Amino acid sequence: MNTIAIEDSFGLTTCNKQAIAIERGQGSYVWDEQGRRYLDFTSGWGVTALGHAHPTILSALSEQAGKIMQNPNSGFTYSPVRSRLLARMQQVLPQGLQRVFFANSGAEANDAAIKLARKITGRSVVIAMTGSFHGRTLSTLSVSGGPENAARYLPKVPDNVFVRLSDEQALALMFEKHDVAAVIIEPVQGEGGVRAVPRQYFESLASLCRNNGALLIADEVQSGYCRTGTFFAVEKAGIRPDILTMGKGIAGGFPFAAFAVTESLAQGVAKGDHGGTYCGNPLGCAVADAVLAYMIEHDVAKKVQDCGQMLRSALEEVVNPYPSLVKELRSAGLLIGLQLYSDEQVQRLTQICLDNGLLVTPTRNAVLRIIPSLLVNAQEVEEGMTVLRQSLAQLQDEQNLNAQAMTA
Ligand SMILES: Cc1ncc(COP(=O)(O)O)c(C=O)c1O
Repeated sequence: MNTIAIEDSFGLTTCNKQAIAIERGQGSYVWDEQGRRYLDFTSGWGVTALGHAHPTILSALSEQAGKIMQNPNSGFTYSPVRSRLLARMQQVLPQGLQRVFFANSGAEANDAAIKLARKITGRSVVIAMTGSFHGRTLSTLSVSGGPENAARYLPKVPDNVFVRLSDEQALALMFEKHDVAAVIIEPVQGEGGVRAVPRQYFESLASLCRNNGALLIADEVQSGYCRTGTFFAVEKAGIRPDILTMGKGIAGGFPFAAFAVTESLAQGVAKGDHGGTYCGNPLGCAVADAVLAYMIEHDVAKKVQDCGQMLRSALEEVVNPYPSLVKELRSAGLLIGLQLYSDEQVQRLTQICLDNGLLVTPTRNAVLRIIPSLLVNAQEVEEGMTVLRQSLAQLQDEQNLNAQAMTA
């Protein structure tokens, strides 16, 4: 049996898989088992922020693996590389959010944030936004998407409620009705289709939280670490959350995540409130530290601003001739969403792009996401645009043919 047949037979498949078996990657490119090259504009769902096989990451991994990967008694003992990372993070964390806990995934970081918010406020109601995505643990699922999402895994986690993103009135009403523990929000919704929270709404939300003793949790798992052109997206909104969660690009491909809290919140956390076998493991810390050092030294946030603008202009030129395929283009730095008219169109365009050598990400609500490496260069952008142009033309031809067949 080949790779695909074995995975299909023995893996527990929970998603629509693309029929390619990727063997290796370098920078913005990956190669399948047959040696065919693809331009990767997914960066593993926003994870391989410095591209594939970046030398900084490789040397941090091998150097630390040769020293120690897991501390004796894990977090009960200190680690030089963990402390180096904590110290470096102080250069980029929003002011006042200096206390950090390391986790293994974005969902885990959000789960911990919700748990701590409930403990510290002594309340249980968490407000989330429709269209959000915060992970796939029970608690994070119950604040993702909308009420129907968690209903698949009954009984639902109680007391979590949704409001429509940007509906200030609905939000204020929720605060009137409930003693709110926390509001969890992505400054730019990623899985929901690249939707930035309007600044005015964010400000109202922050003040409602402040005035009602509720905590504001900013989920920057996807928008953080330079993805949207500032180190964290909350910087643009001028908002300081009480808890900020991070993941994905934080260690450029090594499974790692974190959350940061204010000093006053840290005072409310007691011994035993949280933990985990791999939390803050030296290997993850070493890679995260190397990625962070690189991002700071090379001002990756500025690079993303410039490249994001270049990619956006290029995309406008490519998609403008296809108003019947692309409804809207939304972008924040190098997080880009093409709003099409149906999920079927997105699936088909994703497949055509793949056939033509470009990997893109289908997401909810008929949106196709483009999430390249943060180090993507002008030539790769041009190559991607050529393939996308060709793929849109193909999709348009297919649709025209279908329409003709229907009327014939
Ligand atoms: C905003 C946001 N939060 C949380 C998560 C969950 O992260 P993970 O898949 O690492 O658990 C994701 C994943 O896509 C995300 O986009």
